[in-house]
Amino acid sequence: MGCLRLKGLGESRVQDGGPLRMPHVYISHSGADPDALLQLHEALRVAAIADRYGVGEPDRAAADAEINSALALIVLVSAASVRSRTVRQDVETAKAVGIPIIPYQIDKARLNGFFKQEVQPHLRLSSAMPDGMGQLVTEVQAAYRKKCPVVAVMNLKGGVGKTTVTAQLSGAWQEAFGGRVLLIDLDPQYNLTQTFFGMDEADASSGVDRSVISLFERSRLHAKDAPSPAENWLSLTIAPFTPAARDSYVHAILGTDGPPGRLDLISGQFEISKYAFANDRDALAAIKQHFLRSIDHYRSEYDLIVFDTNPNATFLTRCALEAADRVIAPMHADIYSLRGVRLLNLVIRDQIEEEKRPALSVLFNAVNRNEQSTFEGDARNGVYDGIAGFALSKSLMTAALPRSAHFAVKAPQDGQPAWRQLLAHAGRGGGLKAIRDSLKQVALELKALSEGGSSGH
Ligand SMILES: Nc1ncnc2c1ncn2[C@@H]1O[C@H](COP(=O)(O)OP(=O)(O)OP(=O)(O)O)[C@@H](O)[C@H]1O
Ligand SMILES: [Mg+2]
Repeated sequence: MGCLRLKGLGESRVQDGGPLRMPHVYISHSGADPDALLQLHEALRVAAIADRYGVGEPDRAAADAEINSALALIVLVSAASVRSRTVRQDVETAKAVGIPIIPYQIDKARLNGFFKQEVQPHLRLSSAMPDGMGQLVTEVQAAYRKKCPVVAVMNLKGGVGKTTVTAQLSGAWQEAFGGRVLLIDLDPQYNLTQTFFGMDEADASSGVDRSVISLFERSRLHAKDAPSPAENWLSLTIAPFTPAARDSYVHAILGTDGPPGRLDLISGQFEISKYAFANDRDALAAIKQHFLRSIDHYRSEYDLIVFDTNPNATFLTRCALEAADRVIAPMHADIYSLRGVRLLNLVIRDQIEEEKRPALSVLFNAVNRNEQSTFEGDARNGVYDGIAGFALSKSLMTAALPRSAHFAVKAPQDGQPAWRQLLAHAGRGGGLKAIRDSLKQVALELKALSEGGSSGH
């Protein structure tokens, strides 16, 4: 296990259960530049950043596992590494799992072929620069601290496209920017899960608590001898737990032979309805804290987290709103959707403390040409701000999604990979390009909003 060098560094213990490993950076090197490697390791150690790298004979599986759970890949670029098979494979894995690649040039090597294509575009730092190593550490620290935005797709009106937008927008975001996206199915109807996986698969997953309930309560996913919180609707487990390791928990939508990057799902289940019936306030408060802590935990392993939510205001709504930085409210160009957005804004304003309050962005979904010229135009001009009870016109996203049969729900077919359900990867078809373009526009706007601070509230 050569790649598990430096084991122990960056490990910490939490209240209950096993060690929680701090995220680490993986250093890709050829083995021929030990001085640069040690210098870098020392600089990272001083900055309290955990690192891993291979030593001796490469163990591919171990290296891939370490890269898969790393927050970034540093590539020591040298004459030896541009000829190294190991370095090339490290870069390929980093690209496949969607982590940032941070090259650092340590000699005058020329980059050709694969390295020119995959490494050069990321190359900004070298040892020839004044304080090049210091800048490298700063860049790794930025990746370390980067906060993953958490977005709740929500409207207190059913059937406006929450699930469709969650799935398709996330797929488009991941396709456009690469990186790692986590979808969480917080709706007890679990339609999002059914978008990607058959009912049997979804139910088998929740049958072993490999599902959303394990964000809220200690379950069989955390300890083999634990009772399942899904079995007993009348009891709430307030025992703390260490969030489950990502690999044993999430479902990889892109799979291993799908498009590169990471798009994962924590699958939904009906049993989280039990929280709507519970009246033990203290237990619910503890369970909400477990949920918030779990989301914070998975934040370090993703670049975007998206919740699909239920259309009525429940305990789950509060949890989603407190965890989210932003709400995207899909709405149809009609008065009922508008009422749903009005209620949503009221709930956010009246029920969520100011410092936890997410920003609200409203997205027109399923608009056709005719509506676009009337209702949508009026909404953008502020005509409905009074009915909405807030400055809807200022909270509207500029991009919108058209009404199209391409968005229609199609059950996943047996044997077909889950990623085929994503319009971003669904092959070619009449009108698909226009749909992809509009999804990409929404993704770009969401990214700009997430990076540029809040709107709405
Ligand atoms: N832009 C669109 N064009 C055409 N059909 C759409 C569009 N968006 C969603 N739909 C369709 O509208 C229906 C409702 O969508 P969806 O299930 O995503 O709504 P929802 O808000 O998640 O519903 P619920 O409140 O039940 O969770 C689905 O049949 C879906 O395929
Ligand atoms: Mg839905």
